[in-house]
Order: sequence, then structure tokens, then C-alpha cells
Amino acid sequence: MTRKPAGRKRAVKARRPVAKAKAAPATTRRKTAKANHAAKKKNSATTFAGAAVGFAKDIRPMYTDTDIAHMRFFCDLSKRDDNQQHAQEILRRLKGEGGRIMPPPPARPWTKQQVALYQSWIDGGFQP
Ligand code: HEM
Repeated sequence: MTRKPAGRKRAVKARRPVAKAKAAPATTRRKTAKANHAAKKKNSATTFAGAAVGFAKDIRPMYTDTDIAHMRFFCDLSKRDDNQQHAQEILRRLKGEGGRIMPPPPARPWTKQQVALYQSWIDGGFQP
């Protein structure tokens, strides 16, 4: 029987879990980032999580009460049908095309991700 120094075994044991814990999430992160990038590129009609974009859960919550109140002269932004009817015009104004950017200052314009979500809702066939 060979006698190993006790200290060496313990040192190896202690290092292993750290190395393992670091490796796994890195792989997962890479995969997720790749999938997200592909989804963005395709401009798919799904969220990054893979669910279909729906008006009630994805679009309606992006409108503030102020947005809805101030745009009543034009349409009811809280309603799916109105959004569907004016989708292209709304999309253009969200991007600041064809007129003043909407919502106008002091409100913050929608982020690229929010505008992309609206686009995906259109592409997905205006799901409720
Ligand atoms: C077809 C698309 C749209 C058109 C033609 C349009 C047009 C207008 C016009 C003419 C005004 C009043 C004048 C002005 O402040 O520039 C206005 C105000 C406003 N719009 Fe829109 N809009 C559109 C979409 C939207 C959307 C999608 C939002 C929200 C996400 C929005 C939010 C607002 C707000 C908050 C105001 C009030 C600004 C203020 O009084 O300070 N609009 N819009």
C-alpha cells in the first residue's frame, strides 16, 4: 500500500466543484445567446422564450394610461382591433417615421426590443 500525503487529496477535491460550476453555465449562456441572436435575425413572430406574441400579454402592457388617453382622438390603443387596423402607421410612428416620434417627449421612445415585439405581433397575425 502506498501512502499518499493527506493534504494533496483534499486539495484536488476542493478544486473540482468550482471548475464544474463555472463550466456548465458558460455553455448554457453561449447556447442561449446564439438562439436569441437567431430569433432576432429572423424577426420571428415569437418572443425569445418561444411563445407567440399576444396583444394582451405583450403589447397592451407597453402602453401607458397617458398614451391611451392622449391618442383617443385617433384610436383606442388599448384595443387589439384598433391596433390591428392602424398597425403599420403605429409601427412607423413608434420608429419616428412619417411624423413626430410616438410617444413624444417627455415620454421615452420605445426601445428597439419593444418595437421589434410590436413588429413580431404584426408578423404573427395579430394574436389576441
Ligand atoms: C398612427 C400612429 C400615431 C399617430 C398618427 C399619432 C399622432 C399624434 C398626434 C398628432 C399627437 C398630438 C400632437 C403631438 O403631441 O405631436 C399625439 C400625441 C401623443 N401621442 Fe401619438 N400618434 C400615434 C401613435 C402613438 C402611439 C403608438 C403612442 C404610444 C405608444 C402615442 C402616444 C402619444 C402621446 C403620449 C401623446 C401626447 C403627447 C403630449 O401631449 O405631450 N401615439 N399623437
